[in-house]
Amino acid sequence: MITNNLINDYIDTLIPKRSELLETLEREAKEEKIPIIQLSSIQLIRTLLTAFQPKRILEIGTAIGYSAIWMADAVPTARITTMEIDPERINRALLNFEKAGVRDRVELVQGDAGEGLPAHYRFDCLFLDAAKGQYKNYLDLYLPHLDDGGIIICDNILFRGLVAEDVVDNKRLAPLVHKVKEFNRYMTNHSQLETSIIPIGDGLSFSVRRGSIS
Ligand SMILES: C[S@@+](CC[C@H](N)C(=O)[O-])C[C@H]1O[C@@H](n2cnc3c(N)ncnc32)[C@H](O)[C@@H]1O
Repeated sequence: MITNNLINDYIDTLIPKRSELLETLEREAKEEKIPIIQLSSIQLIRTLLTAFQPKRILEIGTAIGYSAIWMADAVPTARITTMEIDPERINRALLNFEKAGVRDRVELVQGDAGEGLPAHYRFDCLFLDAAKGQYKNYLDLYLPHLDDGGIIICDNILFRGLVAEDVVDNKRLAPLVHKVKEFNRYMTNHSQLETSIIPIGDGLSFSVRRGSIS
């Protein structure tokens, strides 16, 4: 947790009650240790989507469909393409999209998001929430699919606060922390992006793709 637990818990109490399905998914994720986005972060994403009203959202990392259902609910006119590599999670996500009544607006692309999408796919919102070590690859791969003025949201970019430490004692995590720090530097200095880092949940970034200058 990167924020004070007390404050985080307090923020969560201010988030309106979710549908029965979303609350079931929260419980399942907790019990089965399935990584889903934190409540305060998805509420912020919901607010941003409500303001920006994107029409075509690309999500990298579906898991069991929790965040995709939130986003579909936030913008009822949006179509969502979401990518997932794990076959068991894919099956559960498809079932959950059916239960949420959003199956007709959500396309689940099954396989490795590192392989990209055909050029005709266009988006006005990109949400990165899969393998943290691959974020730079994902950004390079999918930025060309994003319209000028399109938005990018990335989760876990403060990685439990470890990115702020000079030396990471945990030898196993250190290479991943290094990659996230490199990604954060890359993204915040990217000539086509205007980016802010928001210390909520596990750290969210919010970027807007600048229009091309003619
Ligand atoms: C943090 S979870 C996604 C959580 C989801 N966005 C939510 O909040 O409900 C990350 C997911 O990315 C998937 N993933 C990891 N590497 C991937 C890849 N190369 N291509 C597609 N999916 C991948 C994992 O299987 C995992 O289910």
